[in-house]
Amino acid sequence: MLDSSLAYQTGMCNEFATEALPGALPKGRNSPQKAPYGLYAEQLSGTAFTAPRHANRRTWLYRIRPSTLHQPFVPINSGRWINRSEAGPATPNQLRWDPLPLPTQPTDFIDGMTTMAVNSACAVHVYAANRSMETRFFNDADAEFLIVPQQGRLELATEMGRLQIEPQEIAVIPRGVRFQVRLMDPQARGYVCENFGAALKLPDLGVIGSNGLANPRDFSTPIAAYEDREGDFELVTRFQDSLWSARIGHSPLDVVAWHGNHAPYKYDLRRFNTIGSISYDHPDPSIFLVLQSISDTPGVDTIDFVIFPPRVLVAQDTFRPPWYHRNIASEFMGLIHGAYDAKADGFVPGGASLHNCMSAHGPDAETFAKASTADTTRPDYLTETMAFMFESNQAFRPTNFAMETAQLQHDYFHCWQGLKKHFNPAQA
Ligand SMILES: [Fe+2]
Repeated sequence: MLDSSLAYQTGMCNEFATEALPGALPKGRNSPQKAPYGLYAEQLSGTAFTAPRHANRRTWLYRIRPSTLHQPFVPINSGRWINRSEAGPATPNQLRWDPLPLPTQPTDFIDGMTTMAVNSACAVHVYAANRSMETRFFNDADAEFLIVPQQGRLELATEMGRLQIEPQEIAVIPRGVRFQVRLMDPQARGYVCENFGAALKLPDLGVIGSNGLANPRDFSTPIAAYEDREGDFELVTRFQDSLWSARIGHSPLDVVAWHGNHAPYKYDLRRFNTIGSISYDHPDPSIFLVLQSISDTPGVDTIDFVIFPPRVLVAQDTFRPPWYHRNIASEFMGLIHGAYDAKADGFVPGGASLHNCMSAHGPDAETFAKASTADTTRPDYLTETMAFMFESNQAFRPTNFAMETAQLQHDYFHCWQGLKKHFNPAQA
């Protein structure tokens, strides 16, 4: 269970306002000559100052010490969390991986990060950890952080307050926000999409109307909570694709009050209002879109975060699993819970697959045989499932680690080799 007494503000990218001490938020101005309680005022901007109002992201922080106060940064070894320039070439081959093993040595969220695939829009990582970031803090100067836990609950202690998430929930930490990942269970594993582009947002709904898919009221943002703690701490920053480290003599989570819309949030994927066909045919997976990072081209996203949640399939005279397809988009998939309906086996929770632009994929032979003969006058109740996709308009380049690890399934392509020819020109 997560801490049920932990309070949140609701909504998606609202102008939030919260204070941990009464009156800590200055009234009527952002940077008064003297902020209440002797706090420092500081602005954190997530977009250009002149970004249009609907897209403008910034937060005013009222903190014990300004964030300038730390020792100089020095580069550190990034381990398997690599610089994107170090990734290998993109491949048209279908790729699939078993889950990476959980660590046996003490490993926190930063040390446990493994880059699997990259492109110019994002980097996809898998994390596996067995201890909290006890004396260190992190921020990403390059990107927004979408965290998708698959195993183990996490407490994300951020400058704006605390978020707790469990598998089948997600959290987004905006670019630049300092935070610490604390494990609430002995082990944790999951996926991260490091989004270098526009901040993720809810998609427009078009003809769906004013409700549906992920509803704004189901997003939760922390209330202000500060630490007044001194010690010998480390501040790690991801800057221009590399990790840097600086000593800091106090906890940077010392924000007593804040207001703005550049703030972390969480969302429970089980609250997704899944929409689908109630007559025939299988809709495009865009119907499962949770969050999008938009490009400069209307209708083309650099990243779509898509889920395949529990749902009832009722389309009649229809091949109900995802059909065979080749897309202009590139798809990195993971499985959080249960089974995925297009594969009989081989794709397990914690595993991953990559189908780059125009790489053909779809149901394995066993799933095809079963779905082709299923009784579609009856509904299929898919209850134990939660898969997701980081879909991008750019091909992913798997890392050398991803191509060399023992978890890469070299026989993945075999799952389609049993598909037989059924064509008979004499029989329609
Ligand atoms: Fe696909």
